[in-house]
Amino acid sequence: MHLSRRGLLYGSAGVAAVSLAGCGESEASTQLTGFTGIAMPTTTSNRWVVEGADLEARLQGFGYRTILEYGDDDVEAQIGQIKSMIDGGVEFLIVGAIGNKSLGEILGRAKNQGVTVISYDRLILETPDVDYYASFDNYQVGVLQARHIIQRLGLEENPGPFNIELFSGSLDDNNSQYFFLGGLDTLESYIYEGKVNILSGETEQEPTSTERWDRKIARERMARLLEDHYEEEPLHAVLSPYDGISRGIVEALVDAGYEPGADDFPVVTGQDAEPLSLKHIKEGTGQSETVFKDTRLLAEVAANMVRSIVDGESPEVNDLGSYDNGFKFIPAYLLPPVDVTVENYQEVIVDSGYLTEEEIDGAAPDAD
Ligand code: BGC
Repeated sequence: MHLSRRGLLYGSAGVAAVSLAGCGESEASTQLTGFTGIAMPTTTSNRWVVEGADLEARLQGFGYRTILEYGDDDVEAQIGQIKSMIDGGVEFLIVGAIGNKSLGEILGRAKNQGVTVISYDRLILETPDVDYYASFDNYQVGVLQARHIIQRLGLEENPGPFNIELFSGSLDDNNSQYFFLGGLDTLESYIYEGKVNILSGETEQEPTSTERWDRKIARERMARLLEDHYEEEPLHAVLSPYDGISRGIVEALVDAGYEPGADDFPVVTGQDAEPLSLKHIKEGTGQSETVFKDTRLLAEVAANMVRSIVDGESPEVNDLGSYDNGFKFIPAYLLPPVDVTVENYQEVIVDSGYLTEEEIDGAAPDAD
């Protein structure tokens, strides 16, 4: 089995000879007003809804005008929205991309008009016209998910073997490969040792992917895997990259007769600390983990990037050599993700004011 290496994704620190000149600073002399277009990818995942509003509030708090649009997971719709923003005279674009390789042309147009482009959460690829990247340590997200499985199954101390299946996110989202490789690299030694089996044999990113991060697509794939490989064999864990996908996986497990809360219910991971997933974590009725990315901090980082440039300063970055978008290493500010389980959700999620217990308890079920 061939497992890809982290080194394929990450450049060495020595490549970090990125010049920050031309990254928006020169525009400060032309009396920037901070007018910002915010292009978010979707409303199907709660995080983007919260962040769009948060970004607007922060930027407006600085006295800047904003336009906020959601692309509904439709690449062409997002391109149209960005075009209107440019035509409307924005000086900054904060873009949570839908198609990571689809924005080259429209961002070329933005650049011609002197717009500073901040790639938000997801890196935009194959264009020289991205100035900054604000995100999380996406590789670490996968590491945390895999560590949860290792710990819950007791992979260190138990002889096994254990059966695990892998899920990854949308192929056209650059983050997917980072989440997936972080997870796979962390599980790799157990796989080679024979302690962990993946009975489907689906260990590459493509066959494990979930288009548009869609819960129902994940549910269908899980149902197929259970039918094809787990009629006789138990399934012990599922590496899932995102809460919506995790809930689709849990639905398929329940349909196949696994009982949430029972000792043999598979360990399922997740990401984004969505209220409904936290409810399942709290009540023991589904996935047992999520990775929390404090999107309040991400919105703050991106808004502060805009403000620094308006003030004629260089935005703060903490990484110059990890994210190569095919043209250059993009100066980035990366935030740390946090592992959340029933043991620490109160402290990390509730005490920090991200969600209340009532919001978690009252989370609406998925639509269908
Ligand atoms: C984000 C995740 C999110 C996923 C689906 C990814 O790009 O980094 O936080 O779960 O998109 O919306």
